[in-house]
Amino acid sequence: MLRPVFVYFEVVSSTNDVGLELAKTGAAEGTVVVAHSQYAGRGRRGRVWLDEPGSSVLMSAILRPRLPSERLHELSFVASLAVAESLREQFGLQCALKWPNDVLVGSRKICGILVETTGASSEAAAVVGIGVNVNQTEFPSEIAEEATSIALETGSRQDVRAAAEKMGIALLNWYDAYRLRGFKEILDRWRTYMCGVGTRAEMMVSKKRIVGEILGVDEHGRLNLLDNAGRIHSIPWADYFSFRPL
Ligand code: BTN
Repeated sequence: MLRPVFVYFEVVSSTNDVGLELAKTGAAEGTVVVAHSQYAGRGRRGRVWLDEPGSSVLMSAILRPRLPSERLHELSFVASLAVAESLREQFGLQCALKWPNDVLVGSRKICGILVETTGASSEAAAVVGIGVNVNQTEFPSEIAEEATSIALETGSRQDVRAAAEKMGIALLNWYDAYRLRGFKEILDRWRTYMCGVGTRAEMMVSKKRIVGEILGVDEHGRLNLLDNAGRIHSIPWADYFSFRPL
């Protein structure tokens, strides 16, 4: 069973940067970088990830899954499931998972996940970056309507480091389950948290707009969307995804 080895930092550019550097210099699988704050935190698709110092879980786990690059996205399902389970166990929060890997409470985002790798080969290490809002009570206006935190949802401040450590343990436990029993088991559990099935959504995929009804995720983790012409799109990733079609 893989146990996390936590490495703590005060301020870093991004815990994913530190994780990638450590991975390149041979850090062991299960090393988890945790920071108090980031000055260049990043999100998916080139977005920035801002933090209020000391208010969120900012961590990146080094994994060495020996997967072909086309299967690396499976790790983001493992991670989002681990966070949802951990938030339920630690704080009694009922989370929903929005494909591909946002963790929501109600319709607001509480956690984002960014998986990056040290290279394209199956020997590459993967760095699973997890940002969870813990003690924020306000957010920048651009995301104020869409974000929430553990403190807002539970009504009390929480110990950020303890939350990070429990999430690190949960992540490696689910990663162990994934290695031992495969992606199907992860997906079956992930689907029990999935939100939006049966609702209409809009996506941008390679500059193409697709609007339709969400049917679910297939065995590879692709989103199936039924468009207005009755065609089923099997979508491996999207630049933009909203439950509110324009
Ligand atoms: C997203 O929702 O766009 C993904 C956000 C991922 C943020 C986390 S915070 C810890 C790690 N370090 C980063 O720079 N990004 C990830």
